Order: sequence, then structure tokens, then C-alpha cells
Amino acid sequence: AAARGLVVAIDGPSGSGKSSVSRAVARRLGTAYLDTGAMYRAATWWCLEERVDLADQAAVAAAVDVMPLVMGIDPAAPSVHVDGTDVGEAIRTTEISTAVSAVATNLAVRAELRRLQRALIAAESSASSADAADTSFSGGRGIVAEGRDITTVVAPDADVRILLTASEEARLARRSLEVHGAADAAAVEATRDQVLRRDRDDSTVSQFHVAADGVVTVDSSDLDFEQTIQAVLDVVEQVMAPA
Ligand code: DC
Repeated sequence: AAARGLVVAIDGPSGSGKSSVSRAVARRLGTAYLDTGAMYRAATWWCLEERVDLADQAAVAAAVDVMPLVMGIDPAAPSVHVDGTDVGEAIRTTEISTAVSAVATNLAVRAELRRLQRALIAAESSASSADAADTSFSGGRGIVAEGRDITTVVAPDADVRILLTASEEARLARRSLEVHGAADAAAVEATRDQVLRRDRDDSTVSQFHVAADGVVTVDSSDLDFEQTIQAVLDVVEQVMAPA
């Protein structure tokens, strides 16, 4: 019988190293890679592009409903296109980071993006690649999907479910390095408000600081990048090992 594609779900707060670690894990496992946060960012970019008032929940939901979003899920070159435009860089600006919570807390938006996420995951987890023949990286290779609600809502039946955490101190230092290129006291302070406010806003929709039943916690506070990748791969191996 053909093997089913492995589904690995990884959740965690910002600054846990979730995206880079998940992508690296996908490359090593030879699976696809889905960054669901990028989908919420793309939806935000699209609403701003279409001059939709982000406070108008119905208008935001209607815009996202018709958003022509194409997610590239090859971990060697993940990409995000909206209406043919490569928005890979545009969705990482401070403007988007600040506005994204307003879109990500919209329940109709969540329902629509969840539908797309489940379709992408299903195409990679099924043995047949027929459903996904229209993408270049297509069908049945398995997938590592990361976000805030993947282990709990989007793919609660994933083969492996991991909560990637890190202490507040470690998360602030990492985000500060990313944003300011430094992790000295001043840079960390400048990052603190943004990171903690985003976490607070995001928590109103999904509880991602505590591992749900059956979800394995990997704490990366004292691990470097390579060690964190290894810790995640260890969990995958343990869970998949024949009993
Ligand atoms: O991980 P990130 O910073 O790219 O996420 C962007 C936003 O989307 C952030 O506000 C959290 C939200 N998000 C979400 O609500 N659910 C997900 N599965 C992924 C991200």
C-alpha cells in the first residue's frame, strides 16, 4: 500500500523560532512546508491594497473570500502570491505586523483560511497526488504546517503535534535580532511592546502558550537553531517509531 504523507503540526508564539525551524525540519524530512501566519499576513496586505477598512469585519471577510492567494509550499523556496504579485517581502513590514491581529481575530477570515489550510494539508497527506496536480510541489509528500492553531483546530489529527515554546527573554532577544540586528538592552526594549502586544492580541483567538492534550512541548530557550531542529526531529522520530 502507498504510504500516507506525514503531517507535522507546529504551533508557538512569535520569537519561538517557529518559522525557520519548521522550514528546516520540512527540508530534512523532504515534506512540504506551510507558513499559516503568512496567509494571515497576505490577507492583511490584500485588505490594505483593496482599501478595505480593517475595522469593518464584514468588508474584511468579503475581501478575503475573493483573495486570489497562492501559497508556494516547497521548503527550499516558500512563496506567497496574491493576485499574481509576489508579496513575500511586503507581508513582513511593520505596517503589516501591526495590522495583522485585526484580520487574524476576524472569525470569518479564520474560517476561510482554515479551509484553505486544510485543503493544502490534505493534498500533501493523501497518497494520491491527483488533487494537487496544479502545483509544482505537489501531492503526498507530507507537510510541516506551522502557526497558532494548527495542533488544536486546523489539524488536530496530525501525526505529530508540537508546541514550540521559548522563555519571554529568549523570544524578545531573537525578535530583536531579527528586527534591529542587535539584542542589546535598548533594542530588546524597543521590541518588547510589539511582541507582547501581538501575543496578547493573538491569544484572544487561540490559546497557544499551553500545550493541548497529546501535544509535545519543545522548549527552545536554551537551544540554538540546529539543536532546536534536532529536538523537533527527535519528537517526530519518537512519535513515528513503531511501538
Ligand atoms: O507567525 P506570524 O507572526 O507570521 O503570524 C502573523 C499573525 O497571524 C499573528 O498575528 C498570528 C496570526 N496567526 C493566527 O492567528 N493563526 C495562525 N495559524 C497563524 C498566525
